[in-house]
Amino acid sequence: MTNPSELQAIVDAAHRAGAAECGKGRVASYIPALAEADPAQFGLAVRTVDGAAAEAGDVGRTFTFQSVSKVFALCHALAAHGAGVFDGMSVEPSGDAFHSIVRLEEEQGRPRNPYINAGAIMVSGLLPGETPDEKAGGLQAFLSGICDGEAFPVDEAVYRSESATGYRNRALANFMKHYGRIEDPRRAVETYFRQCSITLTARRLARLGLFLANRGVDPVTGDRIVAEGANRTVVALMAMCGLYDEVGRFAVNVGVPAKSGVSGAILAVVPGRMSIAAFGPALGPKGNSIAGMTALTHLSEGLGLSLWG
Ligand code: DON
Repeated sequence: MTNPSELQAIVDAAHRAGAAECGKGRVASYIPALAEADPAQFGLAVRTVDGAAAEAGDVGRTFTFQSVSKVFALCHALAAHGAGVFDGMSVEPSGDAFHSIVRLEEEQGRPRNPYINAGAIMVSGLLPGETPDEKAGGLQAFLSGICDGEAFPVDEAVYRSESATGYRNRALANFMKHYGRIEDPRRAVETYFRQCSITLTARRLARLGLFLANRGVDPVTGDRIVAEGANRTVVALMAMCGLYDEVGRFAVNVGVPAKSGVSGAILAVVPGRMSIAAFGPALGPKGNSIAGMTALTHLSEGLGLSLWG
């Protein structure tokens, strides 16, 4: 069993180490609404499969889901379509930045994985529903179902900001359409922008991620959220592709599956043990939270989390 006071002490120390790094990063500004974030914020939340919880810092601050949404969209799409989700894309790490288009051209519009933007846009297009509102709304309902019925509203200002400036993502969608890989590029990309603009907190993200650490069953309610095989796929892809071109550094320093987003969130999953949510909007050069990376490194050392021994 997890000792709650020992866990809290380790989380507090990891939070201090992360918070000390905030000044070294920069908030994302290519989506104008994200540039308003306070770079000094930092929150760290842990939930264990056996019922313990520990938190430190800004765990109640609201942020947008951004790329961490890709994990939950994939779960929702797999529940609707099964492994057919992977008909049009691969399950290989890309080694490229999240919005890279180069390899998509080399590979005839077939995304390397569902966590780079191209693959995530393809998944968004596959979500149940007709319109972007319905598709993203279904994902919001899926999240509410996991998280005690709580609402997961879209930040409409972030959505508008992303939609007004997201030409690169539209290029990815149009490129995939050119190769006949997706049906409706506009619908897929607007759904993607809405799903990235869903709001949550680090506290809720840790709660949401618990089923991923427990073979697809939420340990709080006992509800099965995704099939066991689907859960394994989602989590394995986090390990291989969750931090884009920094995934190797993360494997060496932290050693657990994780997914990051440009709002500064990182969700890490330790199979059989816990989920960890970090939120710190100051980002390092690869677009990952600098405080989050540091705190997770400390947590991994303190709790012996690395899966690689
Ligand atoms: O598509 C984008 O650029 C953003 N909505 C999400 C990118 C993102 O979070 C990448 N993660 N580090």
